[in-house]
Amino acid sequence: MIIPGLIDVHVHLRDPGQTHKEDFFTGTSAALAGGFTTVIDMPNNKEPITTFERLRNKINEAKKKTVCHIGFYAGSLGDNPEELIKMEPYVFGLKLYLNKTTGNFLIDKKRLENIFSFWKSEKPILLHGEEDILPDILSIVKKTGKRVHICHVSKKNELSVILKAKKEGLPVTCGVTPHHLFLTLSDIKMLGAFALMKPELGANIDQNYLWKHISEIDVIESDHAPHTVEEKNSSTPPFGVPNLDTTLPLLLTAISQKRLTMKRLLEMCFENPRRIFNIPVDKKSYVEIDEMQEYTITNSRLETKCKWSPFKGWKVKGKVKKVILHGETVFENGDILALPGSGRVIKHF
Ligand code: DOR
Ligand code: ZN
Repeated sequence: MIIPGLIDVHVHLRDPGQTHKEDFFTGTSAALAGGFTTVIDMPNNKEPITTFERLRNKINEAKKKTVCHIGFYAGSLGDNPEELIKMEPYVFGLKLYLNKTTGNFLIDKKRLENIFSFWKSEKPILLHGEEDILPDILSIVKKTGKRVHICHVSKKNELSVILKAKKEGLPVTCGVTPHHLFLTLSDIKMLGAFALMKPELGANIDQNYLWKHISEIDVIESDHAPHTVEEKNSSTPPFGVPNLDTTLPLLLTAISQKRLTMKRLLEMCFENPRRIFNIPVDKKSYVEIDEMQEYTITNSRLETKCKWSPFKGWKVKGKVKKVILHGETVFENGDILALPGSGRVIKHF
């Protein structure tokens, strides 16, 4: 079966600054191996992307290494209005962190409304805003009319509040991750730190609610957040799990189990990301999958530099066979064929 090259609007490729975890080449290789030909990378680098200079440096690094189409988001702690104006033409949106996560890149909620007023763009503001903070966010959206995307919705209470806001006509979209769709709190017993991320895994009731309302969630976003095995085994493990290699096989498996349709998968991983973030379509990028092929996820076959997955040992049905990027075969039968830098930074200088 042939499908369009998929779009992942939420990845952390760690480059520059933490390339021992991932870099633009290994991260975008994991994207291709997983059937994604476009990724949009988050700004919580070691030195967060809050200035034009840092964004330019990041784009230049990506140009040398990427093997798929890549774009970026700007970041803010509420103190960079001029830099946001300079960065705006080169990004797909502004990402703000309102809850604690990797890298202490956290804004005070009192500054939120102010930042909304700096951001003059039509491009969405993406929010890491969990249950406690959602009512504040939605009241600012109501007041300002600014378009927001709530990232990685994981709890029943969050999604129900968002769905209500959507029904009221607020300009809100939301995404869900593969780990919140396929894992629950009980998996932490087996996986330990390798199942720790933000937002944390939900209970069965949360997971069931996400699946029940899958037709009302706009996008599937991987939140690919690689950390090394050593870091995860340390006494202070960082939050986050890698996903790019495994998202599509897990979703194809859900299709084989009749929990999802191909039509919905393509809406959530292609049509809606494209529309919400205004991502140009490359008609010469597509993916060949064998939806009948079964295999077991193993660490050694992953392209991500961190070489582990919370889904190790899972039997999946549906395999990526070949990926064509802009007319060139870039992945075939398990091998990356593209050279570093052969992918394209979508918005560049
Ligand atoms: O678990 C997470 N890890 N959640 C986030 O929001 C950030 C990410 C990271 O950068 O490691
Ligand atoms: Zn994230």
